[in-house]
Amino acid sequence: MEQQTASKKRIFSGIQPTGNLTLGNYIGALRNFGVLQNEYDCLYSIVDMHAITVRQDPAELRRACLRTMAIFLASGLDPEKNIIYFQSQVSQHAELGWILDCFTYMGELQRMTQFKDKSAKHADNINAGLFTYPVLMAADILLYMTDLVPIGADQKQHLELARDIALRFNAVYGDVFTVPEGYFPKVGARVMSLQEPTRKMSKSDPEETYIAILDKPDVIRKKLRRAVTDSDTHVVFDPENKPGVSNLMAIMSALTGRSLDVISAEYDGRGYGVFKDAVADSIVAALEPIQNEYDRISADKAYLESVMVSGRERAASIAYRTMLKVRKKVGLAALKL
Ligand code: TYM
Repeated sequence: MEQQTASKKRIFSGIQPTGNLTLGNYIGALRNFGVLQNEYDCLYSIVDMHAITVRQDPAELRRACLRTMAIFLASGLDPEKNIIYFQSQVSQHAELGWILDCFTYMGELQRMTQFKDKSAKHADNINAGLFTYPVLMAADILLYMTDLVPIGADQKQHLELARDIALRFNAVYGDVFTVPEGYFPKVGARVMSLQEPTRKMSKSDPEETYIAILDKPDVIRKKLRRAVTDSDTHVVFDPENKPGVSNLMAIMSALTGRSLDVISAEYDGRGYGVFKDAVADSIVAALEPIQNEYDRISADKAYLESVMVSGRERAASIAYRTMLKVRKKVGLAALKL
């Protein structure tokens, strides 16, 4: 049975297996997963139930799930240290999701900006799942008594709701859930679109607006050259007046560890062509090793299968124990007689 090490805190995070994972997913979340794996007990989930809030092609969704797992592993997540699994294979997520629905107010969900954005994008399919999506996310987090949630800035509002739900539940039933904190990258918490740098980079937007983790070097260089900047030549960090240049600086800083000032001093006045090529180099240097590992791992279906089965079992054993407690508190029929 999975035991939480007494001294270690627990981490949970999830990524949707839709389309291509982007550089935004990498800098905002995935890269931190690897950094945190030594200090914490971590669960990293491929949240396939969240993905079906918009219509998916079933065969493509199944492939995307495995692809996402292979990217997790290729980016350096050790499946022994971390629990890596598919959300839908641990049925307690849906079970707790329902219970927490009963502790969430319509008004809270109506305020969620992601719901408003997605309703506008999928006006023909504003389903109830899209509306209660943040409650399922709260269930993901609270099911594992999570202390810390590494995410990008766009998920902050959802995390705050998860905290509110936990506090509300605890106020009624005593200290049942751990109240989670967010963990955000210092630079790159919101990587912006290459074409419209006032919008976040998103895998559901057109190809030329994002860098995919699996984009080959020549594609990355081409997308960077076409990235929107502005009409002067200054490489200075000023997100309000120079959103394109500032975004590229933040990407470079996040990937190389060099400060924004150092980057500005090196590239200011040398022309955007030189700067963009250097940003492309830093992206290629970060992604190429992941792509090589990805090719090796994704060819090994038996290995992926074994990670999937072990992750599911380890996650389910923790989830089961939480649900015994939650069900008892709420007054539902006992699972164990
Ligand atoms: P998703 O799949 O949209 O994104 C996965 C992670 O990537 C981050 N991210 C970004 N960070 C910086 N810049 C960007 N442009 C960018 N785009 C995406 C996201 O903030 C996220 O951390 N609802 C979540 C998935 C989820 C989850 C959870 C996360 C479901 N349950 C429980 C944490 C805990 C989502 O749709 O992320």
